[in-house]
Amino acid sequence: MMKIIHLSDPHIYIDKIHGIDPVSKFKKALSHIKNNHSDADVFAITGDITDLGDKDSYQLFIQVINEADLPENLKPQLIIGNHDNREEFKLCFPDIETDPNGFIQYFKDIDNKRLIFIDTNLINTHQGHYCDERQDWLNNILSKTNTDTYIFMHHNPLALVKEESDGIGLQQKKEFQQILTKNNKIIKHIFFGHQHITSSGSYCGITFSSPRSTWSPLIPNFSNEYRLGSANTEANYNVAIIRSDALIIHTEDFLKTDVNWFE
Ligand SMILES: [Fe+2]
Ligand SMILES: [Fe+2]
Repeated sequence: MMKIIHLSDPHIYIDKIHGIDPVSKFKKALSHIKNNHSDADVFAITGDITDLGDKDSYQLFIQVINEADLPENLKPQLIIGNHDNREEFKLCFPDIETDPNGFIQYFKDIDNKRLIFIDTNLINTHQGHYCDERQDWLNNILSKTNTDTYIFMHHNPLALVKEESDGIGLQQKKEFQQILTKNNKIIKHIFFGHQHITSSGSYCGITFSSPRSTWSPLIPNFSNEYRLGSANTEANYNVAIIRSDALIIHTEDFLKTDVNWFE
């Protein structure tokens, strides 16, 4: 069995954003993870690590992680989102691998499984972009992979309702769809963030899931067209349980600490 903790969009900043303190929420998530999932194999944070991509926010993120004193297995695997800044990120995290073109893309092999972390950022836009160079890198890795594979990305690779209402999702959907379809025997799940909502389903024969943001969880509405809103909903993170016969995604409402456990 493998257990993956999937947290997204902490949007760390030195102050409140829209009246919400991203740091205190993130600290609560970390302590919940440490207290409940010390047996996890992977802890992934799928982008929008910071709200503005500035050095102070990355340093604050590092400080919060260090103060959380997580065990080695819970040291977070990071990728960037549209709110991050690739160059500042690389300066603040010099040990995180990049591909030969300087994009923050890498893979980790754990327990006979391959986890691929990809970079869908393009400066000065909130849209997701996956250029030819990045596609080549991913295609090359996948062509050499013959084990169960899991993709971690910031942007939603598909429109979550209609194409027309997916302004800030991944723009190279067709190209990415081709990569997924070609490799849907080995890619077992796609983990993403970005929309700040829980979602799950399947695409190109591959299941996917996303948690809300720890900073600003949103709710979607589909009555007329896809739209997002805030309604003081609860932040969460996801827990993926991967067994030989199943993949299960749980949602952790980590702010609900006053639980009446049935025993
Ligand atoms: Fe975000
Ligand atoms: Fe985002």
